[in-house]
Amino acid sequence: MEESRIALPIGSPLDRFIKNNQDDFKFATGELSQLLRDIALSGKVVNREINKAGLMNIAGAIGTQNVQGEDQQKLDVLANIRFIRALTKGGEVCAIISEEEDEIIEVGNDTGRYVVAIDPLDGSSNIDVNVSIGTIFSIFRRKSPLGAPIEERDVLQKGTEQVAAGYVLYGSSTMLVYTTGAGVYGFTYEPSLGEYFLSHNKMMIPEDGKIYSINEGSYNSFEDSVKNYLDYCREQNYSGRYIGSLVSDFHRNLLKGGIYIYPRTAKAPNGKLRLMYECNALAFIAEQAGGMATDGERRILEIEPTELHQRVPYFVGSKNMVEKAASYF
Ligand code: AHG
Ligand code: MN
Ligand code: MN
Repeated sequence: MEESRIALPIGSPLDRFIKNNQDDFKFATGELSQLLRDIALSGKVVNREINKAGLMNIAGAIGTQNVQGEDQQKLDVLANIRFIRALTKGGEVCAIISEEEDEIIEVGNDTGRYVVAIDPLDGSSNIDVNVSIGTIFSIFRRKSPLGAPIEERDVLQKGTEQVAAGYVLYGSSTMLVYTTGAGVYGFTYEPSLGEYFLSHNKMMIPEDGKIYSINEGSYNSFEDSVKNYLDYCREQNYSGRYIGSLVSDFHRNLLKGGIYIYPRTAKAPNGKLRLMYECNALAFIAEQAGGMATDGERRILEIEPTELHQRVPYFVGSKNMVEKAASYF
């Protein structure tokens, strides 16, 4: 079938891209597009806060606060507030799951069609030390009828049910990377214009890579299968690269080819990473880019969630590398 729309070139503004590609999405009503814009805008706000983080600490030290008392809050709490506020006001969302909140956030908008799962700021150990961090999000369509109260089935959906997912990476430049199931696209933020522009068209992860990303400090508490795979990586002379912000490690591997691993450890028997707002989103992006994501045995996107903050062992990245790692199980 001939495509009715033209593919937009590198340098196209995000808004134009979202509008142009709206028909890729089978329920295209414009609401998902608006929701993506809300997330992109919150990303700009959080980006601004992160960029002045050092100054905020100075301000905090001399005891200044804004009217809401917000300027001294930790950035992950602040990011949580910013995203929840935008998603609540936007009107498209009926419920949110956030790393920073124990329970489902019912936003008081029962006619919203979408549910968002979010890690407002990923990479907590890097927040205060000026190293790349990010926001990760998954978007689902609610299952219950519009106008009805939120039910557990609206929120605890499998990764295959995601209608969109992505991340904002606050790195040497700020980027928004997302998919609606029709390829992965990356946009770079131009702060002086206040706009994101298409910089990475139809992103594909190399099938093979030479980078492995894992916290090797925990080596002694890994299962033998993981230890054996790491021995293999060393024999192959792969490069070890571990930032400690999942989103940043994932992004590098997406561009260069590699595998990110957070396995079970003695301290974290189900791994550390959370299925609903870390693993699913990046698994969706990885698959859309030709990569893979597994917990060692199961495809991440097919795991039936039972809890909001459920953890899973995580192997994500280049297809051949993830397959090789899984062969050790
Ligand atoms: P968060 O900051 O959202 O809690 O996530 C931190 C995660 C992830 O970003 C990172 O890859 C991992 O924790 C690092 O954990 P270790 O310090 O155990 O390696
Ligand atoms: Mn995280
Ligand atoms: Mn977080």
